[in-house]
Amino acid sequence: MTNLIDPFQRTITYLRLSVTDRCDFRCVYCMSENMQFLPKAELLTLEELDRLCSTFIRLGVEKLRITGGEPLVRKGIMSFFEGMGRHLESGALKELTLTTNGSQLERFAQPLFDAGVRRINISLDTLDEAKFAEITRWGRLPQVMRGIDAALAAGLRVKLNTVALKDFNEDELFTLAEFCAARDMDLTFIEVMPMGDIGNENRLMQYWDLSDLRDTLATRYTLHDLSERTGGPARYIQLEETGQKIGLITPMTHNFCESCNRVRITCTGEIYTCLGQEGKSDLRGPLRSSETDAPLEEAIRAAIGLKPKGHDFDYSRQTLGGQMSRHMSHTGG
Ligand code: GTP
Ligand code: 5AD
Ligand code: SF4
Repeated sequence: MTNLIDPFQRTITYLRLSVTDRCDFRCVYCMSENMQFLPKAELLTLEELDRLCSTFIRLGVEKLRITGGEPLVRKGIMSFFEGMGRHLESGALKELTLTTNGSQLERFAQPLFDAGVRRINISLDTLDEAKFAEITRWGRLPQVMRGIDAALAAGLRVKLNTVALKDFNEDELFTLAEFCAARDMDLTFIEVMPMGDIGNENRLMQYWDLSDLRDTLATRYTLHDLSERTGGPARYIQLEETGQKIGLITPMTHNFCESCNRVRITCTGEIYTCLGQEGKSDLRGPLRSSETDAPLEEAIRAAIGLKPKGHDFDYSRQTLGGQMSRHMSHTGG
């Protein structure tokens, strides 16, 4: 049986799976305030999620990241994580992880660790309570802070994902870096991407070029570019004075598509082979049409055979290029 290889000879080893489109926050760059969520019947069941992931793992996927929406608001999701533990034990799956807003971690950090999760990414854009309430609309910072503490106490390695927003968290660059250094957490900044209709917010105003952020860091620290990669799109720099590593995800200023190793699946079982393109294929049909996994495997291979070379995000023209119609919560970032 051959692995999953796309038309550009990239081997697919990383699956990002969204298990719900729902979230207990309403971050301004991610959702509009009044989101219409999918009816529950549209979602893949927990059993279907397991079968789907197990099939991908059989086809060579080694890293599985669970996303959302907020994955931990999906009812019964811990049983799914526990089920995936068997693939970690067999050695077929090398890493089981998730990207979360942290709101439910106080409850779930220890069970996640027990299921075999070792590293998680928590999205946090500010350390200021008022700003946090403003950007997430519904979120409350102390709850997330307790979640971070619970994750560290459970022995999970934590990476903070911070969306870089001009005039919003530009002034927190050093405090965020120090907050992470003090807790031995990693930190990654992400350039804001044009995903979905989010209401009146103007993303062109919010966009903060990470080369700019890098220059600001260099005013206080000596920076070294690192060549190491985690299998994700981030490039890392090390601060000589603290030894700390900071990741930069720059879809807008740097095209990392040539080494792309991933595909995404939505909570309804659509496979998107690129975050920045509309192309998708349905896997729920083949999953439900047969007791055997053969039609599903065939659909997966066909979808990966259509994986495009890269995205077309572009802020350089007067109008926003490559704007995506779907929200980040749909494909899970
Ligand atoms: P690790 O390297 O394992 O920590 O994972 P990661 O960086 O792939 O995962 P994470 O969920 O932390 O990703 C952070 C963000 O990077 C995502 O939410 C997206 O905003 C962005 N991102 C991840 N993968 C892609 C990609 O393929 N294309 C683009 N344009 N952005 C991506
Ligand atoms: N651009 C960049 N990052 C985004 N995220 C959500 N929406 C966007 C966007 N439009 C980030 C979240 C989280 C990750 C899953 O994606 O902050 O860290
Ligand atoms: Fe929820 Fe994450 Fe979107 Fe914020 S960015 S609304 S936490 S899914």
